[in-house]
Amino acid sequence: MSWAITENTVCLVTGASAGIGKETARGLAALGATVVIAGRHAERTERVAHELRQSTSNPRISHLIANFSSLDEVVRLAAEMSDRHAKLHILINNAGVWHQHRRDSQDGFDDTFAVNHLAPFLLTRLLRHRLIESAPARVITVSSTLHKLSRRIRFDDLDHRRRPGWFGLAPYAHSKLANVLFSRELARRLEGTGVTSNCLHPGNVATTVVRDSRLLSIGIQVGRLFLLTPTEGARTSLHLATAPELDGVTGGYFASCQQQQPSSAGQDTETASRLWRVSQALCRLDDRDVRRTEASTSGPKDRYEVTIRYREGVFASYAGLPVRTYSGVFRVQGADEVEACDQARAEFEHLRRVSSVAWPRDIVEVLCRRLD
Ligand SMILES: NC(=O)c1ccc[n+]([C@@H]2O[C@H](COP(=O)([O-])OP(=O)(O)OC[C@H]3O[C@@H](n4cnc5c(N)ncnc54)[C@H](OP(=O)(O)O)[C@@H]3O)[C@@H](O)[C@H]2O)c1
Repeated sequence: MSWAITENTVCLVTGASAGIGKETARGLAALGATVVIAGRHAERTERVAHELRQSTSNPRISHLIANFSSLDEVVRLAAEMSDRHAKLHILINNAGVWHQHRRDSQDGFDDTFAVNHLAPFLLTRLLRHRLIESAPARVITVSSTLHKLSRRIRFDDLDHRRRPGWFGLAPYAHSKLANVLFSRELARRLEGTGVTSNCLHPGNVATTVVRDSRLLSIGIQVGRLFLLTPTEGARTSLHLATAPELDGVTGGYFASCQQQQPSSAGQDTETASRLWRVSQALCRLDDRDVRRTEASTSGPKDRYEVTIRYREGVFASYAGLPVRTYSGVFRVQGADEVEACDQARAEFEHLRRVSSVAWPRDIVEVLCRRLD
């Protein structure tokens, strides 16, 4: 079946209350699709939906509200989307933030990592069956060329407590590398389902994404002449969503509507698979109402005992004071040692978040032993 956008094409665009997402939604609506826009502020998102209905003369534009800082709200968004529409053909993971200073998400993660990576990961996982049932379907994730500044996924410091970086650049670049790896791993896991997954860099676009940084915002104002408009910035997202010639094209990274190579870190399949498993554990997907049909969760599992040696009060070490070391023992299941350690780390991270200890805990060593 050849790919064509009609009123029966159901699209969900996240972060569509402003910038690139809003213009992507406008482009899809102008082609006559049924478009759901997701935003975090009810009034603003409702206003944008109204404006898009008027400017495109397409009445099939509605909105849903979710703050991606909260994984529970992402779960609610997925449920409301599924209740509202029996089909989903195009999912555009566009919402994103740049924080100048590290801040916690509502679940206690680094907010940049939570909003830019964990939320689209969870949303896509929860809508996966809807997409497969609606195939052919497309998942498009808005990354950035800045993913190239991040050389690896920091599995030992996903929360950026140790290296927050300047102006929030390191956490942002890291989250955008996570987008590239997520999109690639999703493509691999969806092979043969008729659902494709691609990611993109939209270009350097004059939006308010860096509003948290006064300096960068001034830079955007000054450089406005050299930057793309949000309409131009939506072109690659729209190309990936609509081009019939991209039928079956999956696992790619695009910029200026052309397929390009992401960084070498963005092509690391082992890291992509590990990030998937860690994200799944961090989102506590096993506890949520999701059918467990993923390759890595259906294989045989062994039982492991994982000892995590950690120290509390890492600030003490910065001040040159002695720090005390503790151990936590976790009994987990995994297909191999790496998966077992990841499960234990996720469990440890969860405990750290829900415990009342204010000081960050630093992992010193992780020891894994297979149980007979
Ligand atoms: N602009 C660029 O040059 C550039 C370059 C490369 C990649 N990107 C990526 O492009 C995407 C769109 O960014 P943009 O430039 O269009 O920025 P933008 O104008 O700030 O739009 C970002 C969108 O994400 C939403 N959002 C932010 N935090 C959220 C949260 N906690 N929960 C739910 N929604 C949230 C925003 O909602 P509110 O309206 O409520 O804030 C807004 O709708 C992002 O993923 C960004 O990383 C942008």
